[in-house]
Amino acid sequence: MKRAKIAIVGAGNVGANCAVWAAERELGDIVLIDIPEMADRTKGRALDLAQCGPVDRFDCKITAGSDYAAAEGSDVVVITAGIPRGPGMSRDDLIQTNVKIVKSVSEQIAKVAPDSILIVVSNPLDAMVYTTWKTTDFPTNRIVGQAGCLDIARFRTFIAMELDCSVEDITALLLGGHGDDMVPLVRYTSVAGIPITQLIPKDRLDPIIKRTRMGGGEIVKLMGTSAYYAPSAGTIRMVEAIVKDKRRILPCAAFCEKEYGVGGYFVGVPCMLGRNGVEKVIQVELDAEERKALDESIAHVKELAGIADKFL
Ligand code: NAI
Ligand code: 2OP
Repeated sequence: MKRAKIAIVGAGNVGANCAVWAAERELGDIVLIDIPEMADRTKGRALDLAQCGPVDRFDCKITAGSDYAAAEGSDVVVITAGIPRGPGMSRDDLIQTNVKIVKSVSEQIAKVAPDSILIVVSNPLDAMVYTTWKTTDFPTNRIVGQAGCLDIARFRTFIAMELDCSVEDITALLLGGHGDDMVPLVRYTSVAGIPITQLIPKDRLDPIIKRTRMGGGEIVKLMGTSAYYAPSAGTIRMVEAIVKDKRRILPCAAFCEKEYGVGGYFVGVPCMLGRNGVEKVIQVELDAEERKALDESIAHVKELAGIADKFL
């Protein structure tokens, strides 16, 4: 059986760690691409990771360079190219620089891997997925953004810290854009089937929700740059769902037309991910307060897409 081919464009903190998680799970052969100025570092990272194979017992071919020809025929392409935010910056501050980078990357990938599924990670996420869509003529099921896997992972981590229980038993749902106005849904959050509201009182839960929303900024403040372990782990869960056709339900930035009344933008929603990329978007019922919060988040996503349009 043919092995999957996974290209990762942008071999920085997030991209290199995506390669690590993908190799450890033996998801396929991996190609790392970065700009020519980073060619040696990129090749070095690929070689270093390949040398983990005998230790960790994986058999993946890991190659690297700056020539997009290496990504030819990729099944999945992860786009992490772009600048991350530094202290005091919001994700939105990155838009002008990253639209240009993501546009150029998307154009080149569309030429060499026209049948691939694209997972966009660069920030501001919702506007970068939109940029890839505007730049390629890929069908919307083959373009998806990573944010929800990370944001929900943060929510679950903080709940587990509060309850001193296993993260494994916590399921949660979160909608909207990848900004501080994301919408964690308490009514759809439970621990081993027990509604979270029966385990954590509101005055303890509200700060957890706030911390989840600001989770990216908390790490930037500590490290001086943005997170990379959890973002790359979340991204590779999406890759795994696609290359193994698992049909997992994961929170992703997917194209929504009528869904949630979005009207043709990429927004964080629960999706079924399989060999065709986004197999379907799943709609959940929302009460008035949840609906209002989602509408505010969608309005922000649309505003960012409008800004991206100016640089496209
Ligand atoms: P980084 O600076 O460590 O890596 C970015 C890489 O992109 C660098 O190696 C750089 O040389 C490369 N690059 C720049 N222009 C390129 C081009 N035209 N073609 C190919 N490669 C290019 O940054 P990091 O931490 O890996 O973050 C990458 C992006 O992912 C940032 O925009 C960051 O905000 C975003 N991010 C998104 C997350 C999400 O959940 N959606 C989470 C974490 C980061
Ligand atoms: C995060 O949430 C920077 O989007 C990235 O950590």
